[in-house]
Amino acid sequence: MLKPYYKDTKSVGTTPARSYYIPFSRADKKSYDREDSSRFTSLCGAWKITPYESVLDVPDDFYNNDGADDIAVPSCVQYYGYDYFQYTNDRFPFPYDPPRVPERNPAYHYSRYFDCKVGGEKTYIVFEGVDSCFYIFVNGKAVGYSQISHRISEFDITDYVKDGKNKLDVLVLKWNMGSYLEDQDKWRFTGIFRDVYLLRRPQNHITDYKIETRIHGADGIVAFINKSDVQVAVTFGGETQSVPARAQSEFTVKNARLWSAETPFLYDMVIQSDDEVIYNRVGIRVTEVKDGLYLFNGKPIKFYGVNRHDFHPEKGYAVSREDMLTDIELMKSLNVNAVRTSHYPSSPLFYEMCDEYGLYVMSEADLESHGFVKSDGGYDWAMQAIPQDKNFEQSIVERSVCNVEEHKNFACVVMWSLGNESGWGANEKRALEAVVARDDRPVHYESIYPYVVGDEEYYNGSGLKTVSRMYSTPDWIVNEYLNDAKETRPFMLCEYAHAMGNGPGGLKEYWELFESTDRLMGGFIWEWADHGVKYGAGDGFKYGGDFGENLHDGNFCIDGIVSPDRQFKAGSLQMKYYYQPLKFERADNKLTVTNKNFFGAQTGELVITQNGKAQKRGVCIPPRESIVMDLTDGDATAQYYVGGAEVARAQFVSDKPRAKFVCEKIKTELHGHALIVTSGDNEYRLDVQSGEVESVRAGGAEYGRISLNILRAPIDNDMYIRQKWDARYLKFARPCARGYRVEKDSVIFDIIVAADSLVPVIDATLTYSFCKSGVRVAIDYKVNDVTKFEFLPRIGWTLKLDRSYDKLKYNAYGDGETYSDMYEYAIKGEYECSVKDEYKHYVKPQESGSHYLPDYAEVSDGKRAVRVEGMTSFSALPYSTAQLENAAHDYELPERDGTYLSADYYMSGLGTNACGPLPFDGYVTPNAGADAICFYFGEKR
Ligand code: GAL
Ligand code: MG
Repeated sequence: MLKPYYKDTKSVGTTPARSYYIPFSRADKKSYDREDSSRFTSLCGAWKITPYESVLDVPDDFYNNDGADDIAVPSCVQYYGYDYFQYTNDRFPFPYDPPRVPERNPAYHYSRYFDCKVGGEKTYIVFEGVDSCFYIFVNGKAVGYSQISHRISEFDITDYVKDGKNKLDVLVLKWNMGSYLEDQDKWRFTGIFRDVYLLRRPQNHITDYKIETRIHGADGIVAFINKSDVQVAVTFGGETQSVPARAQSEFTVKNARLWSAETPFLYDMVIQSDDEVIYNRVGIRVTEVKDGLYLFNGKPIKFYGVNRHDFHPEKGYAVSREDMLTDIELMKSLNVNAVRTSHYPSSPLFYEMCDEYGLYVMSEADLESHGFVKSDGGYDWAMQAIPQDKNFEQSIVERSVCNVEEHKNFACVVMWSLGNESGWGANEKRALEAVVARDDRPVHYESIYPYVVGDEEYYNGSGLKTVSRMYSTPDWIVNEYLNDAKETRPFMLCEYAHAMGNGPGGLKEYWELFESTDRLMGGFIWEWADHGVKYGAGDGFKYGGDFGENLHDGNFCIDGIVSPDRQFKAGSLQMKYYYQPLKFERADNKLTVTNKNFFGAQTGELVITQNGKAQKRGVCIPPRESIVMDLTDGDATAQYYVGGAEVARAQFVSDKPRAKFVCEKIKTELHGHALIVTSGDNEYRLDVQSGEVESVRAGGAEYGRISLNILRAPIDNDMYIRQKWDARYLKFARPCARGYRVEKDSVIFDIIVAADSLVPVIDATLTYSFCKSGVRVAIDYKVNDVTKFEFLPRIGWTLKLDRSYDKLKYNAYGDGETYSDMYEYAIKGEYECSVKDEYKHYVKPQESGSHYLPDYAEVSDGKRAVRVEGMTSFSALPYSTAQLENAAHDYELPERDGTYLSADYYMSGLGTNACGPLPFDGYVTPNAGADAICFYFGEKR
């Protein structure tokens, strides 16, 4: 009978948690690639698998069978057709009845054969990640059991293996008692999702060691702490020291080159014992909280961070080394300098690469119990449930212990995190104590609030030396944190700027505040990549609910700053802009360029463009220093390149005066509901029922209705406010004219915008004036006071044109999409493109493709053109608002039926309200306003 270990939270037979390293033989050539070690044998690749609906169905002698089907390791079983896909954010996908394990617990018998040469040495097997727990059998004998999905589990199998062919059987269960501690916002996958390998080692070998670094003046001190029972020889900086068992020794590096994300310099360390060599790269650095500040190598650096999950659209959790490297390279190219391994440790290979490429890592323990707040008892109750429940103490502590022990020797780890959204209680307190006892790096934990339990005032009494929040507004940070005289700890946002869909808006406000004081450490955008699944029919990305699961959280997993296949969106570039290492300031015709880095010089090429002429200059700006350049009068664009890739940019543009509108005489004639206005070359039919232009005849062509538009296809960040828009029937609101008059060659309408059964949402006056080739529509509007919602999506006009109108020319913030609170990354200039490319694709279709502050926009079919001026934003899209709103997936968008030209008096900003604040003040459609937009019809210019 299988022992019911899965009903508890203890591993059985695993070796004590130790730092990650791979031993080599002396005969091996020196390498940092573990595949080059003759002591390392990968067990990744082809395995067999037999699924069982329930662990209770697994026969006692299951390991005597060979698996039925093929499976690759690492992988997630759901991608092989087993079980089902399910995405939930915070809700447990099983009844909340701790510590009981869900009664339906699928099991997967994995098996394979492997060759072994025993030769008097020891053999270990290592699993770097299995969700959620597993039993291991070698040659039919039970070796042990492990859990904690993202820990490294190692077993000594020396007594189980023989020379030649051996059989390995692993029984993986979907759930175990620890599943209450692994309720991260993710797809709920199962399987051996990280690498498995054998290590062949001498009988007496190093077990563990710790490397600590300090800075002493210009020198670096590197301490090697031998945590093994064998003596080792450590070579560092040309010097070899012999370090006895359980002893410690120090190396001094004169004029040390320090490690930082900006200067990821690593020294080689070679650790030898018996016939074993470990190559361990060492970054010398100090990470600490001192005098109320977070200091890295003594400097109050900022985290330009992102939260990263393991996710690949076609592999789920089973990301490869190459996938991780792609992420790292893309992050670096977007000026990211810090990663939070949300909400569990990453693969050790990820840390290795962060050391090498330079990223600060907040290494988070595999812990989240979020679902307890949705389980029925309410927040306060929940916060005291698992965090105080003795049943979970051992596991909550062990999760932090594994995190620290495995990753302690990586220079990139600047901070430990106890986990995410698990509340605070005696269990977390023990975990904090365990971390502090092992390592002196600062500790992060967010899920702790100013509340009192019994005699303990947890918030200030926690012992945490940093303060962390998620999604707080800049105002909150000022009022509740900076203005709190009692608060002396440095502050960070472990999550902010929820990057779901079109957005994030509002980065400017966060970064102006973060840069204003050393007490703010910066933040980590939620999150790095969309979790869109590619599996099954169709070739688009899927999200929660697409696999028929009952309980799911829809597209809340599509909230990355890059797409599932790692394509950039406007928000990625906006992040890159606010994360850029250079600051550009213009005063008259002097441009000051400052290197914000603390450690690395900026060596590259600055390109200044003025009046169409580009001027290039090689620069080398030392850390925290500036150079000053001369500009001439007029607009200027500065771009900074390193190795041909743009790193930073800024633009200084002044507003252009609007083109003069010269009014023409008009003739009017009423035909039924149409007031026909003749002016210059054109004829306009004004609909006296609605106050809109019903059609235009100009230059031999006929154009359709120019409709008043107060909607946008809701963006994900509209998910809450749209409930107010829907309740107010905004979708059904239409312009209704109360009356009109012709006055001095203008036609003036008093209109309301109203839905059946409700009082008008808007009262407005529309004034139409006409010039030789166009019409100007001035609006003066006010949102009705009794409509209590915060703001309108937008207010403007939309004209549907034939799809042959595909050529677009404009001068605005482009060529990416831009909005009032997300445009600084873009360059204002003249662009020509195709309307079909103007819709920027999101996994779930939504408003997109707008351009902020245009001087003009012109769409044409190559001959005839419609030009708009005077708007604060516009878009020319191949889809209508309704088409975008009605499609749940990108691949469901209909066949293009036209060109939709929208010119907005105002378009609301984006904000980050999917999980965070609405657009900040000043970025939303005002509830009263007056402005004018001109439409011109004629030949293409
Ligand atoms: C946070 C949580 C993240 C994620 C985010 C919403 O509360 O820590 O894991 O769920 O909300 O996308
Ligand atoms: Mg959560």
